[in-house]
Amino acid sequence: MNHDAKAITDEISRRLRCAVVPDDEADARRQRWATASADATTESLWQRAEVPRRHAERAIARVPIDETHPWARERSRILGILGKSGVTLCLTGTRGSGKTQIAVDAIRAVTAAGRPAVFTTAQRFFIALKASYDGSAKRSEMQVLESFRRPSLLVIDEIGNRSESDWENRTFFELLDSRYGDMTDTILTCNLEPQEVSANLGPSIVSRMSEGGGIIRCSWPSFR
Ligand SMILES: Nc1ncnc2c1ncn2[C@@H]1O[C@H](COP(=O)(O)OP(=O)(O)O)[C@@H](O)[C@H]1O
Ligand SMILES: [Mg+2]
Repeated sequence: MNHDAKAITDEISRRLRCAVVPDDEADARRQRWATASADATTESLWQRAEVPRRHAERAIARVPIDETHPWARERSRILGILGKSGVTLCLTGTRGSGKTQIAVDAIRAVTAAGRPAVFTTAQRFFIALKASYDGSAKRSEMQVLESFRRPSLLVIDEIGNRSESDWENRTFFELLDSRYGDMTDTILTCNLEPQEVSANLGPSIVSRMSEGGGIIRCSWPSFR
């Protein structure tokens, strides 16, 4: 019988003023229910993150990886810094070098730990926001923004695919700055050169990124 179950049994005994015989079988059953319910929660968090199927399958398959490959080293370094004091990082470099895969593996790890995560692309984020301006929209602009602001981990894939209009820049800054303030983690990906990343995100975001995360260059050959 675990410690909590013992404490409950003792409390019942005290209140009923009689001995309650511990029921190890019931205790084991409760433990199984608790485990099943935790599994259901992490599975539902994973489903709700809406990661691309291609990367999801690889993340679940646990394909043996060569731990000495720079991809694997970067992946484990990133998994190690998430969920602490909040990082904003941008994976950039060669197309096909597994940047999106690292981000999806991070979502897998975060949801497995029972914390919410969301995968989106820069374009989808702005489309979702614009859709909220329609009079018949189900969600307000604030609700859409909150759905990207709240998760423990937010992945925004392909940030190079945005117009960088004033409105986009201000909205992006608002989102990333509020996540920085909340000390949640944000992973961005793109295929831009580091100086283009700085231009895309602007100095205020780059400055926040330098506090934890930064621009990470994935320059090894493509897996495709
Ligand atoms: N470590 C790896 N080993 C083998 N295949 C990988 C690895 N990382 C990613 N892949 C696969 O290679 C392809 C390209 O990876 P992806 O993450 O989409 O690259 P990027 O986002 O850098 O363009 C995908 O099919 C992905 O599942
Ligand atoms: Mg990608």
